[in-house]
Amino acid sequence: MKHTSNDKLWQGRSSGHVADITVEIGQSIDLDIQLYREDIQGSRAHARMLQRIGVLDQTELDQILEGLTTVEAEIAARQMPLRWELEDIHTHVENRLMELIGDPARKLHTARSRNDQIAVDTHLYVKRKSAELRFMILDLCRDLLAQAEKNIDITIPAYTHLQVAQPARLAHPLMAHFWSFFRDAERLQFAEQQADRLPLGSGACLGVNYDTDREFLRQELKFESIYENSMDAVASRDHILNFLYATSVFATHASRIAEEIVLWCSVEFSFLKLPDSVTTGSSIMPQKKNPDLAELIRGKAGRLNGNLIALMTAVKGLPLAYNRDLQEDRHPLLDSAYQAELIVRALRAMVQGMEFQDKNMQSSLEKGYATATDLADALVWEKQVPFREAHHAVGKLVALCEQSGVSLLNAAPEIRRQAHPAFEDPDFYNPAVDPTTSADRKRSQGGTARFRIEEQLELARRNLEEAG
Ligand code: ARG
Repeated sequence: MKHTSNDKLWQGRSSGHVADITVEIGQSIDLDIQLYREDIQGSRAHARMLQRIGVLDQTELDQILEGLTTVEAEIAARQMPLRWELEDIHTHVENRLMELIGDPARKLHTARSRNDQIAVDTHLYVKRKSAELRFMILDLCRDLLAQAEKNIDITIPAYTHLQVAQPARLAHPLMAHFWSFFRDAERLQFAEQQADRLPLGSGACLGVNYDTDREFLRQELKFESIYENSMDAVASRDHILNFLYATSVFATHASRIAEEIVLWCSVEFSFLKLPDSVTTGSSIMPQKKNPDLAELIRGKAGRLNGNLIALMTAVKGLPLAYNRDLQEDRHPLLDSAYQAELIVRALRAMVQGMEFQDKNMQSSLEKGYATATDLADALVWEKQVPFREAHHAVGKLVALCEQSGVSLLNAAPEIRRQAHPAFEDPDFYNPAVDPTTSADRKRSQGGTARFRIEEQLELARRNLEEAG
């Protein structure tokens, strides 16, 4: 494939021949076609501004605006052929506009560079995606809240070191995930705010030789503020890094609940059933019901973290101002935006369909001697036994229970007495080892007692309302 000088908009000074590799390594249209709406939005505002300052007359502006509408419709209908030799979205749009309306299109790039164009495109994109994703994550929070409300009276083991620790109300771990996702939504709001700054009008790097009206551009494109420094505006990518960081932390959080879903769906735990619609079968093992969505989420966290590191590393050490390396921002940005959306949608589908297996949770609580600490604490409060001694007595009881294969709840009085005389008395012993009573004793702020969980649910509802 030979590329000639007329293919490229920048080729006035070039001799003509362009090597295939120059075209192939340089094209970004395969990805940035996804930015066409932002690109055309930026061009509309720029054209209107050019008319205000007298570079375009009204007829030219009308032709350009009409032409841009046609180009947008063509791209939306997937009618625009993507041509690597045209490089990127900016040149595709401009080229098509020239085909459609001729001369006026040749004036559109006055007082503009692709460097400030791509910057404005990605700022608009980060703003839009941060908002969209934030609302999606808030909906995920609503799903978790609904499950927590519904399951407040089920107890489940809380784990440390993945060993049974203490009985929790099921709402407690569900809400733990809620709050981490809620902070992810806040991080996305920050990303949106940081991207709310207009880079357009910076030209290639130092501004332009025209009396442009950036305040007009700001208003047209609905940005909160304008970059103070044109070099910073075209060279910075922290608006994208913020988004990649927010989505990367989100994916990391998602991978943690995903891992719990995988564990809870296993035969060994059997705490959770997922609807068939969000599980898959095995091509060889007829009995299987695999939690693929959760596994994929867990895997994708690595991909999103990689995207963050990829751009951090691309930007690191770049001299001012624009460098072509910056074109490498496209893949992480578009990929993380799409993958984060898939993650939220998959998580929501699973969370909405969660069916908890109460009985199996109760049997794990028993098998794990989850109320051992409560029994020791009861000795401390009610019998004034020093904690270390109480700890020892309960440890002994656990060992005896293990030997005879019984739980704390159904250990016979004789076994109990061997560990400590006070354990024989059912009025002392039974409430001390009851999982629900244990949960309700955790009455410190943020604890798992019912009234504390209710406080938490109330606060969560209020936060969701305020978040919109
Ligand atoms: N395709 C380029 C990018 O995505 C647009 C800016 C090109 N600027 C340049 N001087 N070649 O970053």
